[in-house]
Amino acid sequence: MLDDKKTIFSGIQPSGFVTLGNYLGAINNWIKLQNDYNCFYCIADLHTITVRQEPAKFRKTAVELLMQYIAAGLDPEINIIYCQSHVHQHAELSWILSCFTYMGELQRMTQFKEKSQKHSDNINAGLFTYPVLMASDILLYQTELVPVGEDQKQHLEITREIASRFNKIYGDVFKIPEVYIPKAGARVMALQDPSKKMSKSDENANNTVAIMDKPEIIMSKFKKAVTDSENEVRFSETKPGVSNLINIYCAVTGNTIEQTEKEFSSGGYGVFKKAVGEAVVAKLEPIQKKFYDLQNNKDYIDTIIKNNTERASYVAEKTIRKVKKKIGFLPKV
Ligand code: TRP
Repeated sequence: MLDDKKTIFSGIQPSGFVTLGNYLGAINNWIKLQNDYNCFYCIADLHTITVRQEPAKFRKTAVELLMQYIAAGLDPEINIIYCQSHVHQHAELSWILSCFTYMGELQRMTQFKEKSQKHSDNINAGLFTYPVLMASDILLYQTELVPVGEDQKQHLEITREIASRFNKIYGDVFKIPEVYIPKAGARVMALQDPSKKMSKSDENANNTVAIMDKPEIIMSKFKKAVTDSENEVRFSETKPGVSNLINIYCAVTGNTIEQTEKEFSSGGYGVFKKAVGEAVVAKLEPIQKKFYDLQNNKDYIDTIIKNNTERASYVAEKTIRKVKKKIGFLPKV
């Protein structure tokens, strides 16, 4: 870690399976970054308990998320993939930074407003201070770049605000992070409603393909995908369903849009949807196989968890020590 590579940090909540959208839009790009940046990917389980979780299922989802990331190609010996709750400095910094965050700032967060409407029976304080924990995640590692989607940009803004405020009082303690916009990466939309992003929390299972879905499920979801009343495989703003399928096909095969339009210039949507399904199945097959291998190799997974927790803790501890010193806490003896 003592090199001059920039640090990238991102967090993923263990609240479901990795989707084809996460894979094509994010993970697949992260693989390309692993040699040029110091990358931290945290399984953000502390964030997930702002909504009630069933313990056994929650535990399983977290470890399966880790395995899916590794299976999808993120090397856990190069990247630091770890569990947020294993590194206590996240919670510690979160308390400290909550004293440098204003109620008004948190009240303005759109995600808080949305989530408190959705979970109106459980508007807990954690839901309110969620952005402070996220800021702590990012700032603990002296992160420079954060690859996040549109919905998380406001959280990055508040992170920058908190960090600058702290630095103004105590000197240069935190690096000020920026949003990382990947050079390429498919934006995968919901299969039944191409006006919105594919999301693991979608209530309609036919909108989402999980990278661990069985081949016959994948085929059936593509078969049911929404298209339009024409029968022409052509990329166009006025054909969002078909364009989404073209994007997916290009992302998994490496073909261009033109090649794809040409390849399916006859045969119509039926043939095309089947081909998209088959291409996705073929792309996911090795990932699924690797996942099942990892499932049978608990010792290896335990070693990864142990080593990566240590690597993350080392960096986190350096920051928290500095923060405490600057604030004026009595040093531990
Ligand atoms: N809040 C993010 C989400 O729901 C997850 C997350 C937690 C995160 N900590 C982070 C993302 C730090 C980027 C950086 O998607």
